[in-house]
Amino acid sequence: MSMIREVKDESKKEILKRISAHSHIRGLGLDDKGEPIQVADGFVGQIEARRSAGIVVKMIKEGRLAGRAILFIGPPGSGKTALAIAIARELGEDTPFVMLNGAELYSTEVKKTEILMRSVRRAIGIRFREIRRVYEGVVKEIKFALAPHPFNPYTKIPRSARITLSTKDDEKTLDVDQSIAMQLMQFNIRRGDLISIDADSGEVFKLGRVKGIEKAKYYDVETYKVLEEMPKGKIFKEKEIIRTVTLHDLDEAYATQRKAVIASLIGIGGEEREIDPEIRRAVDEQVRKILSEGKVVLVPGVLFIDDVHMLDIEAFSFLTRVMESEFSPIIIMATNRGITRVRGTDIESPHGIPLDLLDRLLIIPVRPYTPDEMREIIMIRADEEGVRLSKDAIDLLVKIASERSLRYSIQLMHPAKVIAERKERDEVKAEDVEEAAKLFIDVTQSVEFAKKWEGKLIK
Ligand SMILES: Nc1ncnc2c1ncn2[C@@H]1O[C@H](COP(=O)(O)OP(=O)(O)OP(=O)(O)O)[C@@H](O)[C@H]1O
Ligand SMILES: [Mg+2]
Repeated sequence: MSMIREVKDESKKEILKRISAHSHIRGLGLDDKGEPIQVADGFVGQIEARRSAGIVVKMIKEGRLAGRAILFIGPPGSGKTALAIAIARELGEDTPFVMLNGAELYSTEVKKTEILMRSVRRAIGIRFREIRRVYEGVVKEIKFALAPHPFNPYTKIPRSARITLSTKDDEKTLDVDQSIAMQLMQFNIRRGDLISIDADSGEVFKLGRVKGIEKAKYYDVETYKVLEEMPKGKIFKEKEIIRTVTLHDLDEAYATQRKAVIASLIGIGGEEREIDPEIRRAVDEQVRKILSEGKVVLVPGVLFIDDVHMLDIEAFSFLTRVMESEFSPIIIMATNRGITRVRGTDIESPHGIPLDLLDRLLIIPVRPYTPDEMREIIMIRADEEGVRLSKDAIDLLVKIASERSLRYSIQLMHPAKVIAERKERDEVKAEDVEEAAKLFIDVTQSVEFAKKWEGKLIK
């Protein structure tokens, strides 16, 4: 298993950055029987769809949804994306979740199928236990030997370090090399930190802080977990850790490894846009082998494709093939389109999805909101964004949400706040919302605007 190296999956963090409009959504808001609570986890109403989503989460956790796909269908602003994000939150850290917008397939220089393939492989994890040999203990003493930086003699970098680790039962002083010393400095390791140094790879992990170490400084607020007591046991020990990496991580690790070999042979390293299918085949074979030996567990994750009507026939047939293959994530799609043309063909089809794929989908309808529900959502969102709304402003936002869309109404909140602040008011009034709605138009209006000025706009 030497092929598996420590690679962190960043995909989830990436998603959490991209979903700021849904930051108030913390989960599906279900009780312990899986029944949606009217208002919970930032979610309001949409009871049937949340119930269905809850069942989907349960099936994913039990591994009973492999090779299947889900489709959320509903009008703009009805909460389809919010539902998918809630599913991600319910699944927990360990389950890979990848989010892709249909339009993204056309926005880069990378081939469509490569983007899809990459997303698919990011959405499949393998979990394994590893026994690592580590030095683990609380820092009692730490001292760096410094040397001038090779390119900048005015700054100094550590050349090595001497560190004393202790536990209730043991104490060891270690001399560590430059790469470990650099990490110790980078993580700002100081007296009182509980750390672990991997004996084989030399990686340093900060695990927390322990109270009551002599000469250590403590802050009222610490970013790391604070332990009241010294840990027990030996400093040098074997430790079992559980890790999940994705197939894409493995592809990349393998590709980098191979690139390094090639680079050392010919003396240069080229930039690679695509991962060679050969590499993926080799990774698959290795994964199959360690799966059958019971060394790892497959963790199928979720690939969420928003605005799925943007995919074309080639992308759809690629997805169908993926669903039939042995390593397939759970695919969740969303669209607000009714009958529309399948991109890349002249064929009209429900939601712009080819019929053979439609056949395999579990379809979850997401209905439009009642004004009361919109009011509640607007208030939760205002709270999340720290916007104070007057009663009139709320009424107007609800009206805009029903006439235009909920998404547009929510988007007006922040500009309205800026307008109110200019008038040195803390509270947003209806007039501020009105002004914001004049400055920022919604899609229907922008289309009308474009039509009116067609001759003058750039074509
Ligand atoms: N039931 C709900 N409870 C709380 N917030 C919601 C709910 N439904 C939607 N929202 C919020 O309203 C906004 C619009 O919803 P969302 O973007 O999920 O709609 P959508 O169905 O994906 O729309 P579109 O078809 O335009 O993509 C988001 O900020 C979302 O978090
Ligand atoms: Mg959406």
